[in-house]
Amino acid sequence: MYTGLQHAHSGLAYLVLIALIVVIVLMLIGALSGREFTEKDRKIALVAFILSHVQLLLGLILYFVSPLGLELFQSGNAMSDSTLRLTALEHPFINIIAIVLITIGYSRAKKASTSRAKFRSIYMLYAVGLVLILSRIPWSSWIG
Ligand code: HEM
Repeated sequence: MYTGLQHAHSGLAYLVLIALIVVIVLMLIGALSGREFTEKDRKIALVAFILSHVQLLLGLILYFVSPLGLELFQSGNAMSDSTLRLTALEHPFINIIAIVLITIGYSRAKKASTSRAKFRSIYMLYAVGLVLILSRIPWSSWIG
């Protein structure tokens, strides 16, 4: 189960990052062009929203089964080593905040009254979320 989850979390990370970048660029173009925010725009933003929530769910389960998650955190060895601290604390904590921001961006867009405000809510909060996610990815174990 651990290996399957690890592969799923690792693979889905590509889709989440690509989806967030695509949505941010499309919403930015939409805002700058001054066009109307359509149902299609909402659905595109929803795709990145859903992918990031599935990733959150996989990450939460992984945290309890991985030797690099809760187990490491409880061992007390993680705090003194920055590589270990990343997966045991910083990566989960910062990513949860990032996904909360993405959720706020999507829900605020639904309630906003103007198209410009809808586009802005999504591109601003998705972009902050993306920066947070990128800042705490365990790059060396993922790509390197
Ligand atoms: C959009 C959000 C997230 C992204 C893009 C993401 C991405 C990644 C990536 C790329 C890795 C490295 C995988 C590898 O080495 O092959 C990883 C590992 C990990 N992630 Fe996440 N993650 C996210 C959210 C979370 C959350 C919310 C948690 C926990 C609450 C979490 C827990 C973990 C753990 C424990 C590992 C280490 C797994 C292991 O190798 O044993 N992740 N994540």
